[in-house]
Amino acid sequence: MEGFKVVIVGGGSSHTPGIIQSLIANLDRFPLKKLVLYDIDPDRLELVDTLCGSLIAKLDPECVYFTTTDPEKAYTDIDFAFAQIRQGGMEMREKDEKISLEFGVVGQETCGPGGMAYGLRSIPGVFQVIDDVRKYAPEAWIINYSNPAAIVAEATRRKYNNYKILNICDMPVAIMLSFAKMLGLEKYNDVDPVYFGLNHFGWWTHLYDKSGVDRMPELKEKIMKFGLAASHDKHHSDPSWRHTWENFKEILTDFPEYLPNTYLQYYLYAKESAEDMDPNYTRANMVMDGREKDMIEQAKLIRESGGKKEANLNLFNAFGDFIVDVACSIAYNNADRYLVIVENKGCIPQMPYDAMVEVPCYLRKWGPEPVTIGNIPQFQLGMMMQQVSSEKLIVDAYFEHSYQKALEAFTMNKTVPSAKVARKILDKMIEANKGYWPELH
Ligand code: G6P
Ligand code: MN
Repeated sequence: MEGFKVVIVGGGSSHTPGIIQSLIANLDRFPLKKLVLYDIDPDRLELVDTLCGSLIAKLDPECVYFTTTDPEKAYTDIDFAFAQIRQGGMEMREKDEKISLEFGVVGQETCGPGGMAYGLRSIPGVFQVIDDVRKYAPEAWIINYSNPAAIVAEATRRKYNNYKILNICDMPVAIMLSFAKMLGLEKYNDVDPVYFGLNHFGWWTHLYDKSGVDRMPELKEKIMKFGLAASHDKHHSDPSWRHTWENFKEILTDFPEYLPNTYLQYYLYAKESAEDMDPNYTRANMVMDGREKDMIEQAKLIRESGGKKEANLNLFNAFGDFIVDVACSIAYNNADRYLVIVENKGCIPQMPYDAMVEVPCYLRKWGPEPVTIGNIPQFQLGMMMQQVSSEKLIVDAYFEHSYQKALEAFTMNKTVPSAKVARKILDKMIEANKGYWPELH
């Protein structure tokens, strides 16, 4: 049988079952010849395998399926690598969040000091994945959604010019799913977005339905009346996401021109966001007590039933669908239009040519073709310039092993109130990240 050969890197992630669910549901348009789950942690691989292994064997007996901790086995003879790794696991995420909060600054996985700390950990891990893929499958496409995606994308641009590497994020998809449902549509891609920004930092300016009508005015009115409905997506309907969906209307009330990415809440309301967070129980704790625990408990039940019980994967997963959509567009040269992270190259003329921006792109076999956005208003431009500077500086810090650049990156970030606070957080982060970060001088 013809089909694609795929490896999921970070196969032990609690997001992997959802991605597998989407792969299984889309076999008619994205047939699989081989599916490999690769992870450095054999215990986590075993968990996901317990949940999904038998399902794959049952639903797609033709597909060669295995799990491995060996990069050579994982990457040899592969067309696509779907990569999401988390250097340092949830334990380090917890530290990123809690150290920031200790100094009254937003404690967040991808935003502010936590995001930058994670960035310095993530870059070498992602580089390792890319080097291994290139060694064993030189022409494979790498669909990378390892966080913090903005910083990682800037780093992979510098090192690999993003040859056959596409950096993506599921947040716009989760939000567009909400938009679509509020407009009486079904899928996130029932609307064509016009959007500009950086990853976790952008705005929708238009939302066209398939007949070409801009539905944004109608949608704005609905959101102002009823608030934004929480995404139907399994991941984002979790209780820890409730505030984020509720805050949407607040952002739109203050800045009614465009529809914001939800992550802007951490920058626009940095002080209030930090005050709202519990420094002793952060998102990392919620995730560990939520979906991580669920996965462990489900696997336990399946094991105890001697394999009779099946995992309950049957929940809506927009991200898995998005990954399949992106892979299809590339594989078949469909040129479908999706929001992804690409080098600016003039599509927002006021932004640096080499900034990694998040804009709609037509995805081709040879890569993403961004649409031209044109000039953007001063407010958004100012925010984006500040944020992209912070992101570029932290990547400089990585390559140059520069303490000074890291301090500048932390200071530049809108979530951080002063250079003194920046230095205190940075110094504590250096201690916490020994063995993960390059040594900064
Ligand atoms: C969204 C973002 C991801 C991020 C995730 C965190 O999906 O796009 O980049 O990792 O949220 O969700 P969590 O439930 O782990 O806080
Ligand atoms: Mn994301």
